[in-house]
Amino acid sequence: MRIGPHELSSNLCLSPLAGYTNLPMRLTVRELGGLGWGTTDLVNARSLLERNRTALKLVATTAEDRPLAIQLFGSVLEEMRDAAVMCQELGVQAVDINMGCPVRKVVSIGGGSAMMTELDKTARLVRAMVAAVKIPVTAKMRLGWDNDNLTAPDLARVLEDAGVAAIFVHGRTRAQGFSGTVNLAGIRAVVAAVDSIPVIGNGDITTPEAAKHMRDETGCAGMSIGRGAFYDPWIFRRTEHYLRTGELSPEPDIAERLRVLRRHFGRYCEFYGEEHGARLFRKVAPWYAKRFGPAKPFKNSMIAITSRADFEAAITTYLSWRTQFCDERGDLLPKFQPAPMVASFMRPAGDVDAPGQDIIRVPKGPVEVW
Ligand SMILES: Cc1cc2nc3c(=O)[nH]c(=O)nc-3n(C[C@H](O)[C@H](O)[C@H](O)COP(=O)(O)O)c2cc1C
Repeated sequence: MRIGPHELSSNLCLSPLAGYTNLPMRLTVRELGGLGWGTTDLVNARSLLERNRTALKLVATTAEDRPLAIQLFGSVLEEMRDAAVMCQELGVQAVDINMGCPVRKVVSIGGGSAMMTELDKTARLVRAMVAAVKIPVTAKMRLGWDNDNLTAPDLARVLEDAGVAAIFVHGRTRAQGFSGTVNLAGIRAVVAAVDSIPVIGNGDITTPEAAKHMRDETGCAGMSIGRGAFYDPWIFRRTEHYLRTGELSPEPDIAERLRVLRRHFGRYCEFYGEEHGARLFRKVAPWYAKRFGPAKPFKNSMIAITSRADFEAAITTYLSWRTQFCDERGDLLPKFQPAPMVASFMRPAGDVDAPGQDIIRVPKGPVEVW
């Protein structure tokens, strides 16, 4: 897959996850292999132009963190344009525009010409950004406001015409939030709407099979994974392998999970400082634990760590507690093994929110712009 001039090493992308897809996470995932394209958390264009400290931290990157797009959020044309120029100067490979749900006004004033007005405004903004930079400009959107307003195909066409180099589409409407099933037909309609730019499908990919299913059902050029990478940072490597060979590699064992958890944590301490890094990592560690099997004491102790020592102590105590659920080789007894992951769009109809399956929880945050 190509995004502008960039030929990607795989067609798998990391979705922006505000509060998580920082430099430590991106480096950790990249090191495991299989990731073709990374993205920052969303960054407020104005804050970036003002060189706000938090915004600068969000765009921090290194030579190993390539290829990378910075995701910008904002609606003032001049700010988005100038922030795109700043991204280019920072040396990243692309600028991604967070479209949230750009046609909000359509719904409140009744569609029709209102929608065209909004699309015109969006196209003007995008054209100004595209004209201001040499790096590709991409866009991320949902399918639309609700099932009666699936506007993503129209928007995608307008954006392609305005010079956007790729479209990322989360296969849900804004009204859906994060519930229900990802609508593969909705993604397929976006793929069909554009002429030549890649459309990257997104939503609920938690297994290599789910990525393949989305590709086969929608014809999307690439797949983007967000929450699936939280508790399975190996998902890119495993998926790339599966798409290339048809073979499913096993899920990592506990030793590998802890090795990567430690790498991730170590990078948090380096990047944010030990105490602040440890505090921030409190919300990351429980995601890893989702595939540990029984892990309550692990989660309870991780949410109180303030240092490297606390972190290591939590692991040591947890591993000794966990032996009661394992055989003599240290493997979890079958009845304690976590159930296989099944993406929403691969479950039998009616089983979408079945207990135990709805395990991709959504952390609190401004979901309306995701
Ligand atoms: C905690 C969290 C933060 C997110 N932050 C962003 C963001 O900054 N920008 C964005 O475009 N989407 C954001 N999203 C949406 C994801 O990029 C993605 O579209 C969505 O989670 C569906 O994909 P997934 O099922 O693979 O996670 C966020 C989602 C979550 C759960």
